[in-house]
Amino acid sequence: MFETLTAAPPDKILNLSVLYKADPRPEKMDLGVGVYKDSSGATVIMKAVREAEKRLYDSQSTKTYVGMGGDEGFNKGMLKMVFGDGADLSRVFACQTAGGSGALRTIADLLKRAKPDATVWLSDPTWANHAPILKAANLPTATYPYFDAASGSVKFDAMLEGLKAAKAGDIILLHGCCHNPTGANLNLAQWAKVVDFLVERNLFPFVDLAYQGFGDGLEEDCAPVRLLAGKVPEMAVATSCSKNFSVYRDRVGAVILLGKDAESVKIAGSQALTVTRVLYSMPPDHAAAAVRIILEDDDLRANWKAELEDMRLRMLNLRKGFAEALRRQSNSDRFDFIADHRGMFSRLGITEAQVDRLRDEYGIYMVGDSRFNVAGLKEDRLEELAKAVVSVL
Ligand code: LMR
Repeated sequence: MFETLTAAPPDKILNLSVLYKADPRPEKMDLGVGVYKDSSGATVIMKAVREAEKRLYDSQSTKTYVGMGGDEGFNKGMLKMVFGDGADLSRVFACQTAGGSGALRTIADLLKRAKPDATVWLSDPTWANHAPILKAANLPTATYPYFDAASGSVKFDAMLEGLKAAKAGDIILLHGCCHNPTGANLNLAQWAKVVDFLVERNLFPFVDLAYQGFGDGLEEDCAPVRLLAGKVPEMAVATSCSKNFSVYRDRVGAVILLGKDAESVKIAGSQALTVTRVLYSMPPDHAAAAVRIILEDDDLRANWKAELEDMRLRMLNLRKGFAEALRRQSNSDRFDFIADHRGMFSRLGITEAQVDRLRDEYGIYMVGDSRFNVAGLKEDRLEELAKAVVSVL
């Protein structure tokens, strides 16, 4: 049986952690996988999460199944977090999933059932796992222009021009905030144009919202999704709590569907639950229950929001500091875009060979396309890093 298989190539992002751990050099720097780290390099458990876990431990009396859609309190909390207090939720559905990837795959399978001949349009570039997830759901993919490497910004006109090739009923995958891997985002005026474009051409928005709270703020990062929700008849959103609640390994995210009316979204939701039933039967509970406890408690929620905001502001400062250090070291404004980007990532815009040299000569780990994790930077090592980068140019 297994002799028919050949070894799978290592995952381009996750394998970096393996290589980093095995590197004995004390001065090594981990700018690879998208995990938040504090200034000491630790990925700590957020205080509100710790407290919620304690309450969960004290109050939980059974480990019996929760149900196909997961924790309904969690689902409600996620809907509020994404659409805002007081939003009309009459034609939405949410179910808890195993992380953001679980949500992406569930939506992909659902869309394949709903419209088997639809193509999913991906930004060029996009997160490395998008295409494999869609391929696993047997959905054909195409790409639309997105990032202008020379200026480090979005090629907005080319993006809309490229999307003109999509046919009515096609699916457009959009990063709700904090574009991964580029950190270059649409501004709100551009989003408004995209929304009109999608409505005019009857294109279906599929939003990946994995970094809510890491860009411009918890509410601000949902402005594009809320804009869409106010205008499009239908859409799907894959959310994740991995980053903004720092619960990575516990795997929790959500599928959110917006339908034409209450009845149609109920039907779509029932289909989504049969997708997850086949994929993994039911989602893991632990982190979802902790997130629910936080979202339902005013004090814990305020505490979590404050810690999340500190993380966001730290990343902004690091962006600024790194851009300034690179300006000094390179004597140019080539890397100024880093300060303007938002979220966890930017691409340095250097070659794969230069990325390899940074790893081999300095123990600096980043993804081969030169994507680096901003939260992996250290305030007191920015100059040293900038010097290393400039030395390989
Ligand atoms: C990343 O892009 O680094 C994260 O989303 C982690 C992952 O699974 O790739």
